[in-house]
Amino acid sequence: MVEPVVRFLLTDPEGIYVDATLGLGGHAMSLLETSPALRLVGIDRDRAALDEARRRLSKFGGRVSFIHGNFSDIASHLGGRPCSGVLADLGLSSFQISDRSRGFSYMEDGPLDMSMGSGARPVAKLLAEAPASEIAGILRDYGEEKKSGAIAALIVKARENGALTTTSELRSIVGRTVPARFLIGSLSRVFQALRIWANDELENLRAFLPQAAALLTPGGRLAVLSYHSLEDRMVKNYFRQEEKGCICPPDFPECGCGRVSTLKVLTRRPVLAGPEEVDNNPRARSARLRVAERLQR
Ligand SMILES: C[S@@+](CC[C@H](N)C(=O)[O-])C[C@H]1O[C@@H](n2cnc3c(N)ncnc32)[C@H](O)[C@@H]1O
Repeated sequence: MVEPVVRFLLTDPEGIYVDATLGLGGHAMSLLETSPALRLVGIDRDRAALDEARRRLSKFGGRVSFIHGNFSDIASHLGGRPCSGVLADLGLSSFQISDRSRGFSYMEDGPLDMSMGSGARPVAKLLAEAPASEIAGILRDYGEEKKSGAIAALIVKARENGALTTTSELRSIVGRTVPARFLIGSLSRVFQALRIWANDELENLRAFLPQAAALLTPGGRLAVLSYHSLEDRMVKNYFRQEEKGCICPPDFPECGCGRVSTLKVLTRRPVLAGPEEVDNNPRARSARLRVAERLQR
């Protein structure tokens, strides 16, 4: 999804852009190469990813600056500096998934960690101590997992014989609740749910959206790439609400809330990856790109 992101985001060839999820700097690299006068601020909560991005983007020298932090604090990271575009490419990078020591992948054995960076909550502690109802709620709310109750009950039973500490232990518990042909689907929902909980991903996104929109200069754009329906719905609803402005009930004779529209939605439907990109990168199958433009302040 690099081409549509660059096409939508770049409105001012000399502007300041923020990549709020720098990762390994793939999108940042394309933005910097496409427009040689543009400057970019890259944020990531994962120090290892940020260090790797710094190495990969070193050829751009002072055009790029790096911030280790959470995008939920984007306004203070930017010190209120206005910018021409903000990108968030949510979730995990392949760099994080492929490092088995971080415990994000159900394909590899690793510790039940799943931390993207500072401030994360420990998954192993949740599974060792939380009541079944709390674990089931997390699997249901963040993973939309139908077997959440059965999986949580098995986790609580299994820990009577010692705490769960590895991804393969969790995988074998999930495997006891579904036939083999449904296992991968179940595992991806369960691991997604725990990761979202551990890193407080939805609350971070909720905090990020209004701050990012407020940083934009008129005509500047906010682009968000999401990978599951919970995130995509939040972005869609936020964009719609800001486009509509007034939140008074429809039967009010006149507006009492005083809110005006601040964004124009540029993607009525989310932009999806093409078949070729999905073939090359299966993760692109679930990518949804939504873009909105800042109106006059
Ligand atoms: C999908 S990757 C981004 C890949 C990047 N666009 C690229 O082209 O290489 C998502 C990145 O966002 C980071 N991230 C996720 N949530 C974050 C948050 N709340 N604040 C800052 N960084 C975050 C992750 O650590 C990860 O490195």
